Amino acid sequence: MGSSKSSLAILLCLILAVFSNVVLEAEARAFFVFGDSLVDNGNNNYLATSARADQPPYGIDYPTHRPTGRFSNGFNIPDLISQAIGEESTLPYLSPYLTGERLLVGANFASAGVGILNDTGVQFVNIIRIALQMQYFEQYQQRVSDIIGPEETERLVNSALTLITLGGNDFVNNYYLVPFSARSRQFSLPDYVVYLISEYRKVLTRLYELGLRRILVTGTGPLGCVPAELAQRSANGNCAPDLQRAASLFNPQLQNMLDSLNSEIGSNVFIGANIRQTNIDFISDPGRYGFVTSKVACCGQGPYNGLGLCTQLSNLCPNRDIYAFWDAFHPSERANRLIVRQILTGSTDYMSPMNLSTIMALDAASNV
Ligand SMILES: *[C@@H]1O[C@H](CO)[C@@H](O)[C@H](O)[C@H]1NC(C)=O
Ligand SMILES: *[C@@H]1O[C@H](CO)[C@@H](O)[C@H](O)[C@H]1NC(C)=O
Repeated sequence: MGSSKSSLAILLCLILAVFSNVVLEAEARAFFVFGDSLVDNGNNNYLATSARADQPPYGIDYPTHRPTGRFSNGFNIPDLISQAIGEESTLPYLSPYLTGERLLVGANFASAGVGILNDTGVQFVNIIRIALQMQYFEQYQQRVSDIIGPEETERLVNSALTLITLGGNDFVNNYYLVPFSARSRQFSLPDYVVYLISEYRKVLTRLYELGLRRILVTGTGPLGCVPAELAQRSANGNCAPDLQRAASLFNPQLQNMLDSLNSEIGSNVFIGANIRQTNIDFISDPGRYGFVTSKVACCGQGPYNGLGLCTQLSNLCPNRDIYAFWDAFHPSERANRLIVRQILTGSTDYMSPMNLSTIMALDAASNV
């Protein structure tokens, strides 16, 4: 008995030793980001658009304490994922610094204001709609190919991790932007959601065709609970029912669509992140996560600091770590950390079919 226990212990040590070598030797993994302001690292700084975060106090808690174009007081979700996989942050695709070796880390194609549909965010005029983000990704592959050749490029893309965040703007900045919007006259909400999902499916299929094999797809979160919606369409500070309904229709259909794509492909290419749980825990129960509020934005003005933009003239909270929302729409860095922790280690209630730590371990093992 004793000796079988100790040989088991030795075996476990061996397994751990092998496993840690695998992790150490695993190649640097490229990271690609597509989507909207939740994940834009600063592409819109280079565009003539009103959807931008390049003025203080944006970036107040970033290492440089300066605005970068991220819609956060500090790091955003892609930064924290890069840190978790041991990489430097990806640069915005439009950045002039994205050249040479830096290209091999990956790139961020996201642009604040965009949605699944081309007519989402028209008021922001000059933004990189999703079809153009994907064209830029093709252009990126050509540029990388010029450096490391087509075969290595294919390997880099096939083994990369990707994050895409879309959908919120198709409600907030399209269907519900104005009363009697064109889309709301064209579609009932349930029909609009079906249409969005069918268009999103084409986008995701295209990402697969372009060679990406591990793609995190985020849900919309509780759209009706953000300070902007509390300020504009809520009674008594309850989450706005129309946008909550939108999220509760969209998220389950998104997960079903991902499941169906995976079974068609025969592999878990698409990973749903925070989709099943429409209610994000730190919004329903902010106190438990060390926030004083999930209703009032740190930076803004009007009820819940939810009206207009976050600018140097806005109210600004002294301690950003105790606010779930940095501005009227976007989580604080500390809330982003909670979201990314969920992505890394969350149970299947949050991550479907599995979390990022599991994916990293699987991929490291299959790259031996
Ligand atoms: C959106 O625009 C792109 C590029 O202009 C086009 O290829 C695509 O078909 C459009 N999508 C829809 C749903 O109209
Ligand atoms: C998620 O990750 C943790 C390890 O950090 C693991 O223990 C857990 O079982 C994972 N959950 C799922 C559902 O994969």
